[in-house]
Amino acid sequence: MKNFIDLADMPREQVVELLSLAERLVHKPEPQALAGKILGLLFFNPSLRTLASMQAAMARLGGTSFVISAGQGTWQLEMRRGAVMNGAPAEHVREGVPVLSHYCDALGIRAFASGVDLQADLAESSFNEMVGLVNKPVINMESAINHPCQALADWKTMDDLAVPRRAKFVLSWVNHPRALPLAVPAATVHMAAMRGMDVVVLRPEGFALPPAVMKKAADAAAANGGTLRETSDRDEALSGAHVVYAKEWGSTAHYGNAEADAKARSGLADWCVRDTWFSRAAVDCKLMHCLPVRRNVAVADEVLDGRRSVVQREAYNRMVVQAAVLHQLLSTPTH
Ligand code: CP
Repeated sequence: MKNFIDLADMPREQVVELLSLAERLVHKPEPQALAGKILGLLFFNPSLRTLASMQAAMARLGGTSFVISAGQGTWQLEMRRGAVMNGAPAEHVREGVPVLSHYCDALGIRAFASGVDLQADLAESSFNEMVGLVNKPVINMESAINHPCQALADWKTMDDLAVPRRAKFVLSWVNHPRALPLAVPAATVHMAAMRGMDVVVLRPEGFALPPAVMKKAADAAAANGGTLRETSDRDEALSGAHVVYAKEWGSTAHYGNAEADAKARSGLADWCVRDTWFSRAAVDCKLMHCLPVRRNVAVADEVLDGRRSVVQREAYNRMVVQAAVLHQLLSTPTH
């Protein structure tokens, strides 16, 4: 493995091996495996879990890390090609990113979508450009349209809970005060399809995932024995569900238009997961969410604090699976 950018870069068997390594490192820690190695972490956007879990995973393997939060105690970094840099950013990523890569053995990058141009966000133009500037392994800590660390942790969470491969997995749009990026829903639907599950994307009209995202997931489902479909019929989607994965995202019908997005979601306050959502679901149906979550907007207290919620295990598994990723990328084989 050269980089960790997208689960789609790996065959299913390699993902399963990575998950086995993650489990092995939990039961048989290797506190010196990455001694002397340095992980750089470059954030263009805020984080709680990704920042803390990457540093914790690196420390547990004996390595160290440094964190750059662009524009917070460091120069603001410009990403646009050809920009006339007479505004706030004092340094371009074309200089800054290679500089950081001199100082570390692997670099994690978080750079969310612009939220303005859907095609540019789907193309991952800015993120891919930065990856091309680094001559060390790169870890995607959430890009415009992907969050593979979260997806891998969620896959492990379902394995830990013995959720069957052909279980019914419902990715449901839920409410939020504003438009959020497509990275997590895109990564999640692909992960569940690649795991071989029966995946349903439940969303109101105007919030369909882009055709390119659905096509990628459909291909993964076809290759791995799963299925994929989408609907706006909540009762039908939730009937028999084994997993409800709640996630907020912006209106794709009004991408980049905050006013139209707000209008589209104004009548959707009932898209907040409540106990009643599970009345026809499987008895032990789980509630997943990547966090952070807006309580009583996206998911009600009664669900987050109830027996179905596995959000803490998902968050814990971020550290567990990222340790495996770092081990794969940075450890020196002993034979
Ligand atoms: N789920 C996730 O990536 O959390 P953070 O944004 O806090 O890192």
